[in-house]
Amino acid sequence: MESSNIRLAVIPGDGIGTEVVAEGLKVLNAVGVKAETSEYDLGARRYHASGETLPDAVLDELRGYDAILLGAVGDPSVPPGVLERDLLLRLRFELDHYVNLRPVKLFPGVATPLGEAGPEDIDMVVVREGTEGPYAGAGGVLRRGTPHEIATQESLNTAYGVERVVRYAFEKALSRPRRKLTLVHKTNVLTYAGDLWARTVDRLSLEFPEVETDYCHVDAASMFFVTQPARFDVIVTDNLFGDILTDLGAAVAGGIGLAASGNVNPARTAPSMFEPVHGSAPDIAGQGKADPTATILSVAMLLDHLGLTEAAGRVEQAVADDLLERQTAWTPRTTREIGDDIAARVAG
Ligand code: NAI
Ligand code: MG
Repeated sequence: MESSNIRLAVIPGDGIGTEVVAEGLKVLNAVGVKAETSEYDLGARRYHASGETLPDAVLDELRGYDAILLGAVGDPSVPPGVLERDLLLRLRFELDHYVNLRPVKLFPGVATPLGEAGPEDIDMVVVREGTEGPYAGAGGVLRRGTPHEIATQESLNTAYGVERVVRYAFEKALSRPRRKLTLVHKTNVLTYAGDLWARTVDRLSLEFPEVETDYCHVDAASMFFVTQPARFDVIVTDNLFGDILTDLGAAVAGGIGLAASGNVNPARTAPSMFEPVHGSAPDIAGQGKADPTATILSVAMLLDHLGLTEAAGRVEQAVADDLLERQTAWTPRTTREIGDDIAARVAG
């Protein structure tokens, strides 16, 4: 077993966030990695209590950890955009999480809405740009609430920002058996940004001759996710397209309860943050109904990022075994029971 001591900041957040994070930590403990965890109270609860979203002092403290594990934040009682922009997006931007890594993988035994597709057809990784594009917050509004209102929301794409995420995607593709990289964009309409992305992929492809490159418009890619998912190995795409495409990916790979993600700073100038793709699910919060698997798989990604590949592999294998058993011997389990079962497999 790898011995190490990792310093982990934990942000359980709101709703089912607290429930699923508890199970993620249970599995982390079972895998035998020595983790020193500190919990941070951020999200809707804190916002209501103090009006704070992400105090500067907390952000500074977070910079000192090896990684961050986040559950989910958000609640219908908080005006839309407050926690998304001032907490989640701010963390991603300030900690320079320029890679939003989202595996789309169908585990054996898991049902997909794509009737005939199997695990050999759905095994891809979406590398979504995390710090630019339409999410950069560029734009503004004039004459709000009047018939003459004008709102702009610009997409920012820098040569620096595009190059670093495309380079990461090439390296990711090189590390996988198929060695295929698909750029997903809308170069035929978004010609300025699309041109920058396409030229960057072309230029870097010279450095990665072993990687086969392909291109797909985002609308066609959405169709192929459903009709021909086996086309894709590694996808690189902009912030907005990646956001939308990975929800579709989660759906085809067995649902939002299984979708894991990493907000990664590959340059390691700040800690990376791992979280389930889903939100705080107020509709089922506090009932023990949430599936903690997405969070547990996010813990596996976290371990992998920290170089603890053996431990990461054991967590992923335990999840795969648990998912396979759900197919043959399905019994309803609570959030805690699923966590217990996966932790027992990891330890055993
Ligand atoms: P959601 O992902 O919370 O829920 C969508 C649907 O999926 C709900 O029916 C929910 O019950 C179900 N679901 C989600 N996770 C599940 C799990 N682990 N097991 C079983 N079922 C699960 O998305 P929604 O409802 O759009 O957003 C709820 C709140 O979460 C909002 O405040 C939103 O802003 C926030 N949110 C936060 C995110 C984050 O913290 N990264 C991401 C997405 C949404
Ligand atoms: Mg999303």
